[in-house]
Amino acid sequence: MKWLKRILIAVVTFIIIIVLVIYVISNRHLSRKFDVPRVALTFPTDTESIARGEHVAIALTKCGACHGDDFGGKVLIDDGKFAHVYAPNLTRGKGGIGTWSDADFVTAVTHGIRPDGSALLMMPSDAYSELSHADLINALVYIRSRPAVDHEWPASSLGPLARMLVAIGQPLFPAEVINHGQAAPDSMPAAASAAYGKYLVTIGGCRSCHNPSLSGGPLPGAPSNFKVPANLTPAGLKGWTLGDLRRALRDGVQPSGTPIDTFMPWRYTKRMTDVEIEATWLYLQSLPPKEFGKQ
Ligand code: HEC
Ligand code: HEC
Repeated sequence: MKWLKRILIAVVTFIIIIVLVIYVISNRHLSRKFDVPRVALTFPTDTESIARGEHVAIALTKCGACHGDDFGGKVLIDDGKFAHVYAPNLTRGKGGIGTWSDADFVTAVTHGIRPDGSALLMMPSDAYSELSHADLINALVYIRSRPAVDHEWPASSLGPLARMLVAIGQPLFPAEVINHGQAAPDSMPAAASAAYGKYLVTIGGCRSCHNPSLSGGPLPGAPSNFKVPANLTPAGLKGWTLGDLRRALRDGVQPSGTPIDTFMPWRYTKRMTDVEIEATWLYLQSLPPKEFGKQ
């Protein structure tokens, strides 16, 4: 009995130490502050730029998929064990970011950093850091032009599972992995080319789900009932044609006719133009074939 008690005490002490270490390490990530130089960009006000911004924000960067189609914000994850993550209200309504300056907005989107220097959680700024200045400001001007929505969301918080992921180095805060010194291009002219496709795949967040090498695989920490992102390299899309990709991105169906889950944001990619889908196809076809889930 004495031994059993000792072993039990040792096990409990060990667990307490592990939990403490996880909390101390994850708190260090949570409280980290960033200081990046602000970029002064001039926001356009003409209707053509706003129309282009609507296409960028909806079809390409899919801001509404997380922040809601009215940009009033949305619950993304509501799971006590993993995390409570809210994509905030981006409008000028109550609880929104109406008081933020243009530079604050740009810094949040492209660096993943709030005006107070803290890092945004799970906001795909690593993808948006590559947005051309023209696409970026047009998208932001479009979002600013939307009607005000009054909705105040609670602050996001991490549960034990997400803290563990942070402690072992999963980049849940994109600000930690972004190269903050990198300059984005002024504009990216649309063309049916693999180079433009690479740009679209990056700013489209395809890498956030389909893994940076696009070979697919389960998302870290995702519940087991979530559909697993597919392998988009030529090894995964074997036998696919440009027409098949167009159907997948526009109608949400595989070549066999099987519906694609809406966790794959085809309700947004359906608005991609023919040139954009062809560019995406050319880029995906130019990738080295990778086994499912391999980096
Ligand atoms: C995959 C989901 C996702 C997508 C797509 C996304 N966001 Fe976010 N965004 C978030 C989350 C989550 C947060 C808040 C994280 C937190 O609480 O730390 C956030 C925060 C922000 C913030 C900071 C707001 C605040 O009050 O702190 C801005 C600004 C923002 N996003 C703009 C955008 C824009 C513009 C786009 C499209 C170009 C976009 N987001 C696309 C998930 C997303
Ligand atoms: C929010 C996560 C997410 C994002 C972002 C995302 N996908 Fe997906 N995608 C998925 C999931 C999950 C599946 C598998 C769905 C299923 O099995 O029904 C999928 C499936 C697909 C398929 C079908 C493949 C097959 O073999 O059936 C294609 C094509 C595809 N995605 C392309 C893209 C492209 C291109 C982008 C970027 C523009 C993208 N996806 C962005 C999650 C995502």
